[in-house]
Amino acid sequence: MNNPEIAVRIAQLRQTINKHNYNYYVKSESLISDFEYDQLLNELKVLEAENPEFFDPASPTQRVGSDINQDFKQFPHTYPMLSLDNTYNPEEIAEFEKRNKKILNEDFEYVCELKYDGASISLRYENGLLTRALTRGDGEKGDDVTANIKTIRSIPLKLHGSGYPELFEIRGEVYLPLAGFNKLNEQQLEKGLPTFANPRNTASGTLKMQNSSLVAKRPLDCFLYYIISDTLPFDNHYDSLQKAREWGFKIPEYITRCSTLDEIYNFINYWDKERKKLPFEIDGIVIKINDFNQQRKLGMTAKSPRWATSYKFKAEQAITRLESISYQVGRTGAITPVANLTPVLLAGTTVKRASLHNADQIKLLDIHVNDYVYIEKGGEIIPKVVGIDKSQRNSEAKPVEYITECPECHTPLVRTEGEAKHFCPNENGCPPQIKGKLEHFVSRKAMDIGLAEATISQLYDSGLVNDISDFYYLKKEDVLKLERFAEKSAENLIRSIEESKNVPFERVLFALGIRYVGETVAKKIAKTLGSIEKIISASEEELLEVEEIGDKIAQSVEIFFKDEKNKYIIQRLSENGVQLKVIKNYEQLGNALEGKSIIISGVFEKLSRDEIKQLIEKHGGKNTSSISSKTDFLVAGDNIGPSKLQKAQKLNVPIISEDQFLAML
Ligand code: IVH
Repeated sequence: MNNPEIAVRIAQLRQTINKHNYNYYVKSESLISDFEYDQLLNELKVLEAENPEFFDPASPTQRVGSDINQDFKQFPHTYPMLSLDNTYNPEEIAEFEKRNKKILNEDFEYVCELKYDGASISLRYENGLLTRALTRGDGEKGDDVTANIKTIRSIPLKLHGSGYPELFEIRGEVYLPLAGFNKLNEQQLEKGLPTFANPRNTASGTLKMQNSSLVAKRPLDCFLYYIISDTLPFDNHYDSLQKAREWGFKIPEYITRCSTLDEIYNFINYWDKERKKLPFEIDGIVIKINDFNQQRKLGMTAKSPRWATSYKFKAEQAITRLESISYQVGRTGAITPVANLTPVLLAGTTVKRASLHNADQIKLLDIHVNDYVYIEKGGEIIPKVVGIDKSQRNSEAKPVEYITECPECHTPLVRTEGEAKHFCPNENGCPPQIKGKLEHFVSRKAMDIGLAEATISQLYDSGLVNDISDFYYLKKEDVLKLERFAEKSAENLIRSIEESKNVPFERVLFALGIRYVGETVAKKIAKTLGSIEKIISASEEELLEVEEIGDKIAQSVEIFFKDEKNKYIIQRLSENGVQLKVIKNYEQLGNALEGKSIIISGVFEKLSRDEIKQLIEKHGGKNTSSISSKTDFLVAGDNIGPSKLQKAQKLNVPIISEDQFLAML
């Protein structure tokens, strides 16, 4: 593991690819073959997937736009790929048991399994042949990685024996055994290449490699843990897995049937200790209701089945020395202290930085300069400092003194009562705050102007854009002077800015970046008050009348609009035709679907799923994510999951096509 080397390689690759992009797209010159170019891009994609801490929205890999890799064909999952609820202590498992008892009201049995830490996969078998392998993707559709999956020797391409359904899907986890991972890293070192961070990221990065002959060289493996089909010849999970083993699947041995909570706890305690001896990584255990009928009875929420849960092992801790503290300034001026640590290995990755949250946290932990600190990895990418080892403290060590002025613009910091964080009040003069506001303004959920962070920095550093209204005064000639811009890209940027003038008022209000005014609050204020003028002239009482708006938000809105600079910015936005009031017929196109609860499923021909969802809202309807007897109808596209279809039929929910839907409007 060597993070600096990876960082350098990623930076090199980004720079080289950007240069080739420029040569190719701007200067129409190509200095390398397509093959060589693809190799570079692939190397970068894989490194980024394996090392998410180096994520950069401006990386050339981000031109594809979504987390689903565009180079793979996507297909809908026949049954959505759900995730599992997590539990962290025995009490939460007891809650799970209590709920099951209440709903089932009869005897039931659990199956306890290990929670393998890799990348989930769904394999489709038709007449005994592997026909498709999809990654989880967004749960509804995934990337077709069949060619890569076929390189995993333990996955049967043709099933053994008999008795399997004509069509079924089997799900499992693609993982990299520790021995293979270590060997891979030794080989990397021998070749003078950067090493991989951890087995899980390496497995998911490998699955997404374009060249399957390279995948074949990585010792991936796959455990299968869940079969689904409309026609399964068993009535419980345990038997289905035993049978699947006979068909040639690698079904893990570590499965136990349990009937009591104590048996579950024993399973957990045993594996919490023994896991360190396993030849692969696990991050918890999974508890499933065994009987299929009982599983159906318990059903599922939009995100996860109610018949299963996972128990996550306690995060691993490491101890290391705190070398210094850096202070980051966010868009709102909030200061976040970050611990710089002597690099230490924690749960498979080298950690050099950890979050300290705020001044209170530092005080609470009583952190002294050069202390030895315990760090822990939670769900977040950045680990956190959770404690200190006072026994290793030098007797002369001094407590950390929190900064009193902004590390960027040297303005004295303020801390308002009730706020956990210190703030730099120099809103309009502190560079990271200004850049942060510009970034927020152009972001997808706000004005959706296609601008990368690096370009915003360029625009700001060159003096072209100092506040959000400056975007609307940009000329193509100005943009062309910037590095990396050519005719086409400059035109695109100007067009994107022009198009943002159609963004509805509620999103403009959100884009302004008023403290505490997130998407939902902006929507509520815009709907209730209708225009920026009304908001500016509203008294605090009037603001408080808006649903869900309390003192804190009302005050923040008032302060924002009292500021002369903000008034000036709004005037300039208005002069340029940015939407500053709710346009009734834009918001509401009609009321054909008034009060109707609608669910959409599948892939549509004329409109995207998002467009259909928007149309539903703009005609007074409500989008829902799971079918119930209250659903008014289901708009079905191609490849709609059979389970959804069946459920709709069972509940007598009318099913209509895309064309019928459009006709209703
Ligand atoms: S069952 C509907 N069993 O954990 C339930 N999942 O957050 C389907 N996982 O996405 C999952 N080991 O990638 C199941 N023995 C196991 C598992 C397991 C690992 C992963 C899986 C899933 C995630 C749940």
